[in-house]
Amino acid sequence: MVPPPSHHTPISRVAISTGGGDAPGLNAVIRAATLAARNRGWDVVGIRDGFNGLLSPDEYPDGGVVELSRRSVRGIVHLGGTILGTTNRGNPIAFPVQRPDGTWEEIDRSHELLDRFAEHGVDALISVGGDGSLAIAHHLHEQAATHDGRPLRVVGVPKTIDNDLEHTTSTFGFDTAVAFASDCIDRLFSTAASHGRVMVVEVMGRYAGWIALNAGTASGAHAILIPEIPYRLGPVADVIVEREEQDAKFSIVVVAEGAIPHDGERSVIGKAVGQAERLGGVGEKVAAELGRLTGKETRVVVLGHLLRGGSPTAFDRLLGLRFGAAAIRALDTGNDGVMVALAPPTVDYVPLADATHRQKLVPLDCDTMHTARDLGISFGDGIPDTT
Ligand code: F6P
Repeated sequence: MVPPPSHHTPISRVAISTGGGDAPGLNAVIRAATLAARNRGWDVVGIRDGFNGLLSPDEYPDGGVVELSRRSVRGIVHLGGTILGTTNRGNPIAFPVQRPDGTWEEIDRSHELLDRFAEHGVDALISVGGDGSLAIAHHLHEQAATHDGRPLRVVGVPKTIDNDLEHTTSTFGFDTAVAFASDCIDRLFSTAASHGRVMVVEVMGRYAGWIALNAGTASGAHAILIPEIPYRLGPVADVIVEREEQDAKFSIVVVAEGAIPHDGERSVIGKAVGQAERLGGVGEKVAAELGRLTGKETRVVVLGHLLRGGSPTAFDRLLGLRFGAAAIRALDTGNDGVMVALAPPTVDYVPLADATHRQKLVPLDCDTMHTARDLGISFGDGIPDTT
């Protein structure tokens, strides 16, 4: 909970930016924020591709900033992605610039960005994004306080399929990702059973195991490997072999992309300048090793970006709409430098300064973990059977 706002500068024009990886429900935020603002008599503009529409306007012949009207947000709630576009290559605080010698440096363009907002007559920014975008939003909020020119108020809206943001019970996109992953795992049961194979399913989630835990538990996986528990494959192989002995010739193993072997490193594909590191490849490694340990045929399915696509579930649509409308109410009541957050049964505001301090990892004593263990699901940590 934030202290009551101390000032209340009037708003006439709001900008919306969607940054980082897309998540189902972004368009619901854009629609709700646009309608709630327009119903207050405020103008609304959208910035293309994070902040790139303002930082690199020449790259947008049709305009890097677009008016958002009732018409332009009509019929978009059920659509995946974001009508504004997004990027994870446009961090204004660490903007990648190539030097004449071909090497790269990262420069802070936040003051330039604040000037662009002023030129467009924007009084408030709604920044929709994950930890990176919310950290940018916080930085802009701090810089705006000392920047000469038109004041800019900033409200953050948390977004990620990974559900790894602190101070909000959930983020939109997560429910859709879990529902889709569960559906995929359901489908793998019949083919795994028909062939008597081990199917390893790698899911996104970065450094948190929320998607793997929730989808794996909901769909009855036999083992789930999450970043919060460094894994050993011996106990997982034991589960597979025990099932075999009980005439269950197949097994399903769900692996979070950020899962770490107890004696090794997280599987990283690479890191480009100005971007977060890319994770991936752990599913292949797990499948190969489980094949060796059990002698069984194994196959890997990497769900990857399929988890980010498609139509948002009703839960994510509603959460996106609630967050978008709440962001406008935050501005209307004079808030600045806050993030909207789900705090059931309501939506609350928390200081942006607190929002990105640490990631929300799966607590090992949470109810879903207990449930999974009670169901006999292995986490590759060799916890002895309590029966
Ligand atoms: O944070 C969302 C997420 O989908 C992660 O689960 C994943 O590691 C990452 O983004 C992938 O990002 P990119 O779009 O750069 O491949």
